[in-house]
This record gives sequence, structure tokens and C-alpha cells, in this order.
Amino acid sequence: MNKTYCINFAMTSDIVQLQQNLNKPVVFVGLMGAGKTEMGQAFAKIMGWKCVDSDDVIIERAGMSIPEIFEKYGEPHFRELERQVVADLLAQEKTVISLGGGAVMQVQTAALVWEKSTSIWLNADLATLLDRTSRDDNRPLLRDGDPREILSELLEKRSPVYSKASITVDSNGSQDVVLNNIIQGLKAHLKL
Ligand code: S3P
Repeated sequence: MNKTYCINFAMTSDIVQLQQNLNKPVVFVGLMGAGKTEMGQAFAKIMGWKCVDSDDVIIERAGMSIPEIFEKYGEPHFRELERQVVADLLAQEKTVISLGGGAVMQVQTAALVWEKSTSIWLNADLATLLDRTSRDDNRPLLRDGDPREILSELLEKRSPVYSKASITVDSNGSQDVVLNNIIQGLKAHLKL
């Protein structure tokens, strides 16, 4: 589906500044349902960059779905595939990467992300995460138990790690609002 983003005149000059000053890939981190895929695509589109979702590349390389990888080979195998994919994607220029929510919980993957990208933590509250993740059933970690409890625990456990990202952006609002938060957050980070 194609979406037209509300980009006003002031934002256009912001985007040009970001195009001139962002010299590393931009990586979106955060929990399942934080909007990483959606906002990654939106941000890549206005930047004229390509957008890649690490989960999609893993699925393509493994030739099976994420739940199938977890079921057949276990989570450690998935995390190793993820580390390899992230390392490859970080070598690409003018790229926006939407990372699976657990990627930066692996020390080696996290070290690569913090060093080789400008990273954005999309921080959403529990209600938003629950609402967005309830729309599909492709997340193995939410299948074994009450999604509210699981997401709440993950939020508590992972937030200190996500907070190491270059910037933190509130991602509870509409796409246009979050997109603007991202642009302003990056400008502040780059001191533009
Ligand atoms: C995971 C998040 C998922 C996917 C896998 C594990 C996690 O990606 O990588 O199911 O550990 O949080 P999204 O964050 O894109 O849903």
C-alpha cells in the first residue's frame, strides 16, 4: 500500500540536512509492535534510502518463517542467523534497517549496531504494543502465555538496553507524528 506522508516545507529542509549529515545506516530498535517496520519504511521513503527488515532477510536466507526457525532449530540458532544478517546489512550505505526486537539483546549484535549505525529506539507503551501485536500471529515469543505479561516483562528487561540507542523517540502516536519525532530527534542528535 502506498501512503503519502504529510511533509511540510520546513520538514523538507530538515530532510535535506539529514541526507547530508547522516553518514551511517539508520537502525530502528524496540519491542515487537513498536512500529519499527512501518516507521523504517516511512523514514526510508522520505530520505530516498532503501529499507530492509532484518526478519525478512532471515526468512529469505533460511527459506522458512520465523516461527518455523524457532520450532525447528531453537532460538539460539535464530539469534546466530540474526547476527550474521545484521552484520551484512550494516555494511550497506544509505540504508534504513528495522531490527527484530531481540537483536540488540545479543551482546555481539548490539556492539555492531551501536558502533556502525545511528540507532533509534522506538519507545511505545504497553497498550500500544499489545494493540499492534494482536493483529497477527507470527511472533513465537508471544505464543506461549499471556501477551500482556510477556510484553510487560520484555519491556522492563529490554528498556535499559534499548536506551543505549543514539536517540529515543516516542512512538505511541500516528505515523506522521512519529515521523516528525524521528526527524527532530535526529536533528538534535546531529546538532543541526
Ligand atoms: C523478536 C522479535 C521479532 C522477531 C522474533 C523475535 C524478539 O521481530 O525477530 O520473533 O525477540 O523481540 P519484531 O520485533 O519485528 O516483531
